[in-house]
Amino acid sequence: MTVAASGHRQQVVEQAKQMVQQDLQTVLDTYPLVSPLKEAVNHAVMLGGKRVRPALAYATARLNAGNVPAAARRAAVAVELIHCYSLIHDDLPCMDDDDLRRGQPTVHIKYGEANALLAGDVLQSMAFDVLTSSLFADDGSCDLLIAARQVQVLARAASAMVVGQTLDLAAEQQPVNQQQLESIHLNKTGALIQSAIGMGALSVGMQSDSADYVSLQAFGRHLGLAFQVQDDVLDITATTDQLGKPAQSDLKLQKATYPALMGLDGATQYAATLHEQALGALQQVAGDSTALRELALFLLHRAS
Ligand code: IPE
Ligand code: IPE
Ligand code: MG
Ligand code: MG
Ligand code: MG
Repeated sequence: MTVAASGHRQQVVEQAKQMVQQDLQTVLDTYPLVSPLKEAVNHAVMLGGKRVRPALAYATARLNAGNVPAAARRAAVAVELIHCYSLIHDDLPCMDDDDLRRGQPTVHIKYGEANALLAGDVLQSMAFDVLTSSLFADDGSCDLLIAARQVQVLARAASAMVVGQTLDLAAEQQPVNQQQLESIHLNKTGALIQSAIGMGALSVGMQSDSADYVSLQAFGRHLGLAFQVQDDVLDITATTDQLGKPAQSDLKLQKATYPALMGLDGATQYAATLHEQALGALQQVAGDSTALRELALFLLHRAS
Protein backbone atom coordinates (compact mmCIF):
# COMPACT_ATOMS: atom_id res chain seq x y z
CA MET A 1 0.00 0.00 0.00
CA THR A 2 1.32 3.45 -0.85
CA VAL A 3 1.61 6.19 1.78
CA ALA A 4 -1.03 8.20 -0.09
CA ALA A 5 -3.48 5.27 -0.07
CA SER A 6 -3.06 4.60 3.65
CA GLY A 7 -3.34 8.35 4.33
CA HIS A 8 -6.62 8.50 2.47
CA ARG A 9 -7.95 5.45 4.33
CA GLN A 10 -7.09 7.03 7.65
CA GLN A 11 -8.75 10.24 6.54
CA VAL A 12 -12.02 8.48 5.62
CA VAL A 13 -12.09 6.78 9.03
CA GLU A 14 -11.12 9.86 11.04
CA GLN A 15 -13.52 12.23 9.29
CA ALA A 16 -16.38 9.83 9.94
CA LYS A 17 -15.42 9.53 13.59
CA GLN A 18 -15.36 13.28 13.99
CA MET A 19 -18.68 13.81 12.29
CA VAL A 20 -20.55 11.15 14.24
CA GLN A 21 -18.93 12.15 17.52
CA GLN A 22 -20.19 15.69 17.05
CA ASP A 23 -23.67 14.59 15.97
CA LEU A 24 -24.00 12.09 18.82
CA GLN A 25 -23.00 14.83 21.25
CA THR A 26 -25.69 17.10 19.81
CA VAL A 27 -28.32 14.42 20.31
CA LEU A 28 -27.22 13.53 23.84
CA ASP A 29 -26.97 17.19 24.88
CA THR A 30 -30.57 17.85 23.95
CA TYR A 31 -32.24 14.57 24.86
CA PRO A 32 -34.47 14.67 27.97
CA LEU A 33 -32.96 12.02 30.24
CA VAL A 34 -32.44 11.91 34.01
CA SER A 35 -29.57 10.86 36.22
CA PRO A 36 -28.15 8.16 36.30
CA LEU A 37 -29.65 7.13 32.95
CA LYS A 38 -28.07 10.15 31.29
CA GLU A 39 -24.60 9.26 32.57
CA ALA A 40 -25.04 5.60 31.66
CA VAL A 41 -26.08 6.54 28.11
CA ASN A 42 -23.22 8.99 27.81
CA HIS A 43 -20.77 6.32 28.97
CA ALA A 44 -22.08 3.80 26.45
CA VAL A 45 -22.22 6.17 23.50
CA MET A 46 -19.46 8.75 23.75
CA LEU A 47 -16.41 6.79 24.92
CA GLY A 48 -14.59 5.33 21.96
CA GLY A 49 -15.61 2.80 19.34
CA LYS A 50 -14.43 2.54 15.77
CA ARG A 51 -17.68 4.04 14.46
CA VAL A 52 -17.62 1.69 11.50
CA ARG A 53 -21.37 1.71 10.87
CA PRO A 54 -21.65 5.52 10.68
CA ALA A 55 -18.61 5.58 8.39
CA LEU A 56 -20.35 3.12 6.07
CA ALA A 57 -23.52 5.21 6.01
CA TYR A 58 -21.56 8.36 5.08
CA ALA A 59 -19.43 6.61 2.47
CA THR A 60 -22.51 5.13 0.81
CA ALA A 61 -24.18 8.54 0.71
CA ARG A 62 -20.98 9.86 -0.91
CA LEU A 63 -21.40 7.52 -3.87
CA ASN A 64 -23.08 10.39 -5.68
CA ALA A 65 -20.08 12.60 -4.86
CA GLY A 66 -22.07 15.23 -2.97
CA ASN A 67 -21.94 16.32 0.66
CA VAL A 68 -23.27 13.96 3.29
CA PRO A 69 -27.00 14.82 3.52
CA ALA A 70 -28.81 15.27 6.84
CA ALA A 71 -30.69 11.99 6.27
CA ALA A 72 -27.37 10.12 6.17
CA ARG A 73 -26.16 11.90 9.31
CA ARG A 74 -29.36 10.93 11.12
CA ALA A 75 -28.94 7.34 9.89
CA ALA A 76 -25.33 7.27 11.09
CA VAL A 77 -26.35 8.40 14.57
CA ALA A 78 -29.31 6.03 14.65
CA VAL A 79 -27.34 2.93 13.69
CA GLU A 80 -24.58 3.79 16.17
CA LEU A 81 -27.16 4.20 18.95
CA ILE A 82 -28.63 0.78 18.17
CA HIS A 83 -25.13 -0.67 18.06
CA CYS A 84 -24.27 0.86 21.46
CA TYR A 85 -27.48 -0.55 22.93
CA SER A 86 -26.57 -3.98 21.55
CA LEU A 87 -23.14 -3.78 23.18
CA ILE A 88 -24.57 -2.81 26.59
CA HIS A 89 -26.94 -5.77 26.55
CA ASP A 90 -24.36 -8.13 25.02
CA ASP A 91 -22.04 -7.49 27.99
CA LEU A 92 -24.67 -8.12 30.69
CA PRO A 93 -24.09 -11.00 33.12
CA CYS A 94 -27.07 -12.87 31.61
CA MET A 95 -25.42 -12.66 28.18
CA ASP A 96 -21.64 -12.59 27.64
CA ASP A 97 -20.87 -11.33 31.17
CA ASP A 98 -17.98 -9.04 30.21
CA ASP A 99 -16.61 -6.25 32.37
CA LEU A 100 -14.64 -4.20 29.84
CA ARG A 101 -15.82 -2.40 26.68
CA ARG A 102 -14.01 0.21 24.60
CA GLY A 103 -11.33 0.27 27.29
CA GLN A 104 -13.84 1.23 30.00
CA PRO A 105 -15.82 -0.70 32.59
CA THR A 106 -19.00 -1.97 30.98
CA VAL A 107 -22.19 -0.04 31.72
CA HIS A 108 -23.54 -2.59 34.21
CA ILE A 109 -20.22 -2.60 36.09
CA LYS A 110 -20.27 1.17 36.39
CA TYR A 111 -24.01 1.89 36.78
CA GLY A 112 -25.56 -1.43 37.80
CA GLU A 113 -27.55 -3.95 35.83
CA ALA A 114 -30.90 -2.19 35.95
CA ASN A 115 -29.46 1.06 34.61
CA ALA A 116 -27.58 -0.84 31.91
CA LEU A 117 -30.78 -2.51 30.83
CA LEU A 118 -32.61 0.82 30.78
CA ALA A 119 -29.80 2.61 28.96
CA GLY A 120 -30.05 0.01 26.18
CA ASP A 121 -33.82 0.38 26.10
CA VAL A 122 -33.77 4.15 25.76
CA LEU A 123 -31.04 4.10 23.10
CA GLN A 124 -33.31 2.05 20.91
CA SER A 125 -36.13 4.59 21.13
CA MET A 126 -33.72 7.48 20.65
CA ALA A 127 -32.42 5.93 17.44
CA PHE A 128 -35.83 5.99 15.77
CA ASP A 129 -36.59 9.43 17.15
CA VAL A 130 -33.42 10.80 15.53
CA LEU A 131 -34.09 9.01 12.26
CA THR A 132 -37.50 10.67 11.86
CA SER A 133 -36.40 14.11 13.11
CA SER A 134 -35.21 17.13 11.14
CA LEU A 135 -31.87 17.18 12.95
CA PHE A 136 -28.80 18.35 10.99
CA ALA A 137 -30.87 19.78 8.13
CA ASP A 138 -30.02 23.43 7.38
CA ASP A 139 -33.59 24.10 6.33
CA GLY A 140 -35.09 22.08 9.20
CA SER A 141 -36.70 19.62 6.80
CA CYS A 142 -37.03 15.83 6.71
CA ASP A 143 -38.07 13.82 3.66
CA LEU A 144 -40.61 11.57 5.38
CA LEU A 145 -40.69 8.94 2.64
CA ILE A 146 -36.95 8.47 2.93
CA ALA A 147 -37.22 8.48 6.74
CA ALA A 148 -39.98 5.82 6.65
CA ARG A 149 -37.85 3.59 4.43
CA GLN A 150 -34.86 4.06 6.72
CA VAL A 151 -36.97 3.24 9.78
CA GLN A 152 -38.02 -0.02 8.17
CA VAL A 153 -34.44 -0.94 7.25
CA LEU A 154 -33.13 -0.16 10.75
CA ALA A 155 -36.04 -1.80 12.58
CA ARG A 156 -35.61 -5.02 10.63
CA ALA A 157 -31.86 -5.03 11.24
CA ALA A 158 -32.31 -4.35 14.96
CA SER A 159 -34.78 -7.25 15.13
CA ALA A 160 -32.34 -9.46 13.24
CA MET A 161 -29.66 -8.51 15.76
CA VAL A 162 -31.89 -9.75 18.58
CA VAL A 163 -32.62 -12.95 16.65
CA GLY A 164 -28.87 -13.43 16.16
CA GLN A 165 -28.17 -12.85 19.83
CA THR A 166 -30.81 -15.44 20.72
CA LEU A 167 -29.21 -17.97 18.38
CA ASP A 168 -25.75 -17.07 19.70
CA LEU A 169 -26.75 -17.83 23.29
CA ALA A 170 -28.50 -21.06 22.30
CA ALA A 171 -25.36 -22.20 20.48
CA GLU A 172 -23.05 -21.90 23.50
CA GLN A 173 -21.41 -25.26 24.16
CA GLN A 174 -23.37 -26.73 21.24
CA PRO A 175 -22.03 -28.09 17.97
CA VAL A 176 -23.11 -25.94 15.00
CA ASN A 177 -22.54 -26.42 11.29
CA GLN A 178 -21.38 -23.67 8.93
CA GLN A 179 -24.89 -22.85 7.78
CA GLN A 180 -26.09 -22.34 11.35
CA LEU A 181 -23.04 -20.27 12.26
CA GLU A 182 -23.48 -18.10 9.18
CA SER A 183 -27.06 -17.45 10.21
CA ILE A 184 -25.97 -16.43 13.73
CA HIS A 185 -23.32 -14.03 12.44
CA LEU A 186 -25.40 -12.53 9.62
CA ASN A 187 -28.17 -11.81 12.09
CA LYS A 188 -26.32 -10.65 15.18
CA THR A 189 -23.76 -8.47 13.37
CA GLY A 190 -24.16 -8.50 9.60
CA ALA A 191 -27.67 -7.09 9.51
CA LEU A 192 -26.82 -3.86 11.32
CA ILE A 193 -23.75 -3.28 9.14
CA GLN A 194 -25.83 -3.93 6.05
CA SER A 195 -28.49 -1.52 7.33
CA ALA A 196 -25.96 1.31 7.65
CA ILE A 197 -25.19 0.92 3.96
CA GLY A 198 -28.87 0.58 3.05
CA MET A 199 -29.84 3.70 4.97
CA GLY A 200 -26.95 5.63 3.42
CA ALA A 201 -28.18 4.64 -0.03
CA LEU A 202 -31.77 5.60 0.76
CA SER A 203 -30.60 8.98 2.09
CA VAL A 204 -29.51 10.02 -1.40
CA GLY A 205 -32.74 8.84 -2.98
CA MET A 206 -31.61 5.42 -4.20
CA GLN A 207 -34.54 3.06 -4.75
CA SER A 208 -34.42 -0.26 -2.94
CA ASP A 209 -35.30 -2.17 -6.13
CA SER A 210 -32.48 -0.60 -8.14
CA ALA A 211 -29.51 -2.66 -9.33
CA ASP A 212 -27.11 -0.48 -7.34
CA TYR A 213 -29.04 -1.02 -4.11
CA VAL A 214 -29.06 -4.78 -4.67
CA SER A 215 -25.28 -4.77 -5.26
CA LEU A 216 -24.77 -2.63 -2.15
CA GLN A 217 -26.79 -5.15 -0.16
CA ALA A 218 -24.50 -7.93 -1.40
CA PHE A 219 -21.47 -5.80 -0.50
CA GLY A 220 -22.91 -5.26 3.01
CA ARG A 221 -23.78 -8.90 3.49
CA HIS A 222 -20.25 -10.08 2.73
CA LEU A 223 -18.66 -7.24 4.69
CA GLY A 224 -20.93 -7.77 7.69
CA LEU A 225 -20.25 -11.49 7.83
CA ALA A 226 -16.51 -10.88 7.41
CA PHE A 227 -16.66 -8.38 10.27
CA GLN A 228 -17.94 -10.95 12.74
CA VAL A 229 -15.60 -13.67 11.44
CA GLN A 230 -12.73 -11.27 12.15
CA ASP A 231 -14.20 -10.39 15.55
CA ASP A 232 -14.08 -14.14 16.32
CA VAL A 233 -10.46 -14.33 15.13
CA LEU A 234 -9.42 -11.25 17.11
CA ASP A 235 -10.95 -12.77 20.26
CA ILE A 236 -8.10 -15.30 20.02
CA THR A 237 -5.25 -13.38 18.40
CA ALA A 238 -5.50 -9.90 19.96
CA THR A 239 -4.87 -8.79 23.52
CA THR A 240 -7.37 -7.24 25.91
CA ASP A 241 -5.38 -4.01 25.66
CA GLN A 242 -5.64 -3.96 21.88
CA LEU A 243 -9.34 -4.81 21.87
CA GLY A 244 -10.48 -2.67 24.80
CA LYS A 245 -12.69 -5.66 25.68
CA PRO A 246 -11.75 -8.99 27.25
CA ALA A 247 -9.77 -11.22 24.88
CA GLN A 248 -10.74 -14.90 24.84
CA SER A 249 -14.29 -14.13 25.93
CA ASP A 250 -15.63 -16.57 23.32
CA LEU A 251 -13.32 -19.33 24.49
CA LYS A 252 -14.44 -18.83 28.08
CA LEU A 253 -18.11 -19.20 27.09
CA GLN A 254 -17.49 -21.88 24.45
CA LYS A 255 -19.21 -19.75 21.85
CA ALA A 256 -19.93 -20.94 18.36
CA THR A 257 -17.28 -19.13 16.31
CA TYR A 258 -15.54 -19.48 12.94
CA PRO A 259 -12.15 -20.38 14.49
CA ALA A 260 -13.92 -23.10 16.50
CA LEU A 261 -15.56 -24.36 13.30
CA MET A 262 -12.71 -24.11 10.78
CA GLY A 263 -9.56 -23.37 12.79
CA LEU A 264 -7.78 -20.04 13.17
CA ASP A 265 -6.12 -20.14 9.74
CA GLY A 266 -9.32 -21.29 8.08
CA ALA A 267 -11.30 -18.46 9.64
CA THR A 268 -8.66 -15.86 8.75
CA GLN A 269 -8.67 -17.09 5.16
CA TYR A 270 -12.45 -17.10 5.06
CA ALA A 271 -12.58 -13.45 6.21
CA ALA A 272 -10.21 -12.52 3.38
CA THR A 273 -12.38 -14.40 0.87
CA LEU A 274 -15.50 -12.61 2.11
CA HIS A 275 -13.73 -9.28 1.70
CA GLU A 276 -12.86 -10.14 -1.89
CA GLN A 277 -16.50 -11.01 -2.51
CA ALA A 278 -17.56 -7.72 -0.91
CA LEU A 279 -15.22 -5.74 -3.14
CA GLY A 280 -16.46 -7.70 -6.16
CA ALA A 281 -20.05 -6.67 -5.38
CA LEU A 282 -18.95 -3.07 -4.89
CA GLN A 283 -17.49 -3.00 -8.40
CA GLN A 284 -21.03 -3.36 -9.75
CA VAL A 285 -22.12 -0.13 -8.08
CA ALA A 286 -22.19 3.11 -10.07
CA GLY A 287 -20.66 6.29 -8.69
CA ASP A 288 -17.58 7.05 -6.64
CA SER A 289 -17.09 4.02 -4.39
CA THR A 290 -13.57 4.99 -3.26
CA ALA A 291 -14.57 5.73 0.34
CA LEU A 292 -16.51 2.45 0.64
CA ARG A 293 -13.58 0.54 -0.78
CA GLU A 294 -11.17 2.23 1.62
CA LEU A 295 -13.42 1.37 4.54
CA ALA A 296 -13.63 -2.28 3.48
CA LEU A 297 -9.83 -2.41 3.32
CA PHE A 298 -9.54 -0.66 6.67
CA LEU A 299 -11.78 -3.35 8.16
CA LEU A 300 -9.84 -6.18 6.54
CA HIS A 301 -6.60 -4.94 8.11
CA ARG A 302 -8.00 -3.95 11.50
CA ALA A 303 -6.26 -5.13 14.66
CA SER A 304 -9.10 -4.36 17.05
C1 IPE B 1 -18.29 -5.14 18.32
O1 IPE B 1 -18.48 -4.19 17.31
C2 IPE B 1 -19.46 -6.05 18.36
C3 IPE B 1 -19.68 -6.75 17.12
C4 IPE B 1 -20.80 -6.67 16.48
C5 IPE B 1 -18.66 -7.61 16.59
P1 IPE B 1 -17.35 -3.15 16.94
O2 IPE B 1 -16.05 -3.89 16.73
O3 IPE B 1 -17.82 -2.30 15.85
O4 IPE B 1 -17.22 -2.31 18.29
P2 IPE B 1 -16.84 -0.80 18.51
O5 IPE B 1 -18.05 0.00 18.14
O6 IPE B 1 -15.65 -0.48 17.63
O7 IPE B 1 -16.53 -0.71 19.96
C1 IPE C 1 -21.57 -9.15 19.13
O1 IPE C 1 -21.00 -10.38 19.20
C2 IPE C 1 -22.93 -9.15 18.69
C3 IPE C 1 -23.72 -8.01 19.15
C4 IPE C 1 -24.92 -7.87 18.71
C5 IPE C 1 -23.22 -7.02 20.10
P1 IPE C 1 -19.87 -10.54 20.29
O2 IPE C 1 -20.44 -10.93 21.60
O3 IPE C 1 -18.80 -11.39 19.70
O4 IPE C 1 -19.29 -9.03 20.41
P2 IPE C 1 -18.10 -8.61 21.35
O5 IPE C 1 -16.93 -9.46 20.97
O6 IPE C 1 -18.55 -8.84 22.76
O7 IPE C 1 -17.86 -7.17 21.00
MG1 MG D 1 -22.15 -11.83 22.28
MG1 MG E 1 -19.80 -10.21 23.55
MG1 MG F 1 -16.77 -11.07 19.86
